[in-house]
Amino acid sequence: MPQSEKPMQGKVCLVTGATSGLGKATATQLAELGATVVLGCRDRAKGEAVKAEITSRTGSTSLELFLADLSSQKSMRQGAEDFLSRHSKLHVLVNQAGLYVSERQVTEDGLERMFAVNHLAYFALTHHLLPALKAAGSARVVNGSGGAEAMGNIHFDDLQGEKKWSAFRALTQSKLGNFLFTYELARRLEGTGVTANVMHPGGVKTELGKGAGGPFGVMLRLMRPFMDTPEKGAETLVYLASAPGLEGVTGGYYVKNKPAKSSARSHDGELAARLWKVSAGLSGLPA
Ligand SMILES: NC(=O)c1ccc[n+]([C@@H]2O[C@H](COP(=O)([O-])OP(=O)(O)OC[C@H]3O[C@@H](n4cnc5c(N)ncnc54)[C@H](OP(=O)(O)O)[C@@H]3O)[C@@H](O)[C@H]2O)c1
Repeated sequence: MPQSEKPMQGKVCLVTGATSGLGKATATQLAELGATVVLGCRDRAKGEAVKAEITSRTGSTSLELFLADLSSQKSMRQGAEDFLSRHSKLHVLVNQAGLYVSERQVTEDGLERMFAVNHLAYFALTHHLLPALKAAGSARVVNGSGGAEAMGNIHFDDLQGEKKWSAFRALTQSKLGNFLFTYELARRLEGTGVTANVMHPGGVKTELGKGAGGPFGVMLRLMRPFMDTPEKGAETLVYLASAPGLEGVTGGYYVKNKPAKSSARSHDGELAARLWKVSAGLSGLPA
C-alpha cells in the first residue's frame, strides 16, 4: 500500500515498552499502518536496534526514540519535555511498559518498583503529555493491563508494600490501578476529544517474568507453550489505537478486540478518586 493511503498516516503514536514483547509488536504494527511511531525505551542502544529492526521489517523511516526510565519521575519529566519540544500533537499514547519482579525492589524515588512502573508511570506520563494529546483534537490513550486486576486491591495503608509485600499483591494492585486510572481519566477527559481505554492481551510469550521464581514463575513456564505470540497479543492494543469505529469511544475495557467486563472494584469511583489524588501527589502533579 502506498504510504499516502495508509490509515495511520500523519498520526503520531508513542508506545512505551517498545523494546520488547507487546510494546515492540504494537510499535511495529502501527508503523505498518503508516503512523509516525515514537519508541519508548530506557536504553538508547536497545532503542536504536529496535528502530532499525522495525524499519527493515516495515520500510518505515518515521520512527523516533522517546528516552525515559519509567521508574523515575525525573526521567519521565525530561523525556516528556523533550517530546513536547519536538511535537505539538500526540494522537495516540500506548502505555505498555511494565514488569514483574519476584523480590521487592525500590526505585530511585523510594517507590515499590511494580507500583512505580506498572501504575504510576501510566499516570505521570499521560499527564505530562496531555497538552499534546489535547492539541491533537482527537486522541487516544491506550492502557495495556491484565486480567490480574480482578484479584487486586489498593492497599492505601501500605501502597509501597513496606509492611507486607508479595509479588502477587504488588502486581495485582498495579493492574487494578491501571483500570481505576483509565476509568477516572475517561471521566475527567469527557468532552476534550481524548479517549482512554484499557485492555488485557491474554497470555503472551514475551520477556515478562522470564527467570521469575515462585508460583508465578512456575505458572508462566507451564503456560508458555500455549501462549500467543506478541504480534497476536498486540492486536487489541493496535485496534484500540487505530480502529476508526472506536472514534470517541472511552472508558472501556477490551479483550481480543471486544468489550469485556472488569471487576466491580475497578468501577469504584471513590477508590479511583483516592488513588488519583495519591498518584498526583507522588508525581508532583496537581490533583
Ligand atoms: N505477556 C503477558 O502475557 C501479559 C499479560 C497481561 C499483562 N501483561 C503486562 O504487560 C507488561 C509487560 O509487557 P510484555 O509482556 O511485553 O513484557 P516484556 O517483553 O518484558 O516488555 C516489557 C517492556 O517494558 C519495558 N520496561 C520495563 N521497565 C521499564 C522502565 N523502568 N522504564 C522503561 N521501560 C521499562 C522493557 O524495557 P527493556 O527492554 O529496557 O527491559 C520492555 O520494553 C506488564 O505490565 C504485564 O503485567 C503481560
